[in-house]
Amino acid sequence: MTQEKWTAVDRYITDHLVPPEAALDEALEASARAGLPAINVSPNQGKLLMLLAQVQGARTILEIGTLGGYSTIWLARALPKDGRLITLEFQPKHAELARANIERAGLSHLVEVRLGSALDLLPQLAAEKVGPFDLTFIDADKEHNADYFEWALKLSRVGSVIVTDNVVRKGAVLDSSSPEASVQGVRRFYERVAAEPRVSATAIQTVGSKGYDGFSLARVTS
Ligand code: SAH
Ligand code: DHB
Ligand code: MG
Repeated sequence: MTQEKWTAVDRYITDHLVPPEAALDEALEASARAGLPAINVSPNQGKLLMLLAQVQGARTILEIGTLGGYSTIWLARALPKDGRLITLEFQPKHAELARANIERAGLSHLVEVRLGSALDLLPQLAAEKVGPFDLTFIDADKEHNADYFEWALKLSRVGSVIVTDNVVRKGAVLDSSSPEASVQGVRRFYERVAAEPRVSATAIQTVGSKGYDGFSLARVTS
């Protein structure tokens, strides 16, 4: 099995099940023009996020790692008219482009892009008593995933869902002696989740246009 085949199957799935939408396509085009890295979720993954948020009946969503707002737009599309999504991003250029993309998608009234380092912004959210969030999507630097999970849990209620992207990294997660901070961060994330009695969690390996990776899903149970 090859990357070429995974990409072709993702295209097949997307052609059948994820009809093109101008606002989403334009967000990716604007991001590419601005030179942002193409590490956004794929269209079929984005639709999965939207469906998860809908199944969850989410009215409040937290995202850590905005980039150009592609996953943000998918998630915000799941919200009711009075819903709220807060997304955290520390690169001004990314945040600015995301705001423009979200505006073009007609979702600005639901979405707040907060600029700063997530580890500074998360305690602020807690202090402001925004939340609890019905769903959190963790997708920033992988090094701090355990800390992001900790904060997501603090900002959750019983029944909240925490989705974390990139928890397999081509299988590199197995390498306990990896020199990569991102791999060690993902490993600390698993240890933290494993030791947390207040969640029920799993993770799924994926292949597709973004290669071999995976995501985890945790439900807050108490
Ligand atoms: N969720 C996006 C992709 C996010 S890529 C999508 O699927 O469309 C990861 C983003 O996290 C990048 O824009 C990066 O600038 C941001 N990021 C990295 N470290 C961060 C930090 N410490 N605080 C906030 N954002 C961070
Ligand atoms: C990277 C980050 C992501 O969030 C992702 O989904 C894929 C790759 C990266 O930093 O390389
Ligand atoms: Mg990701």
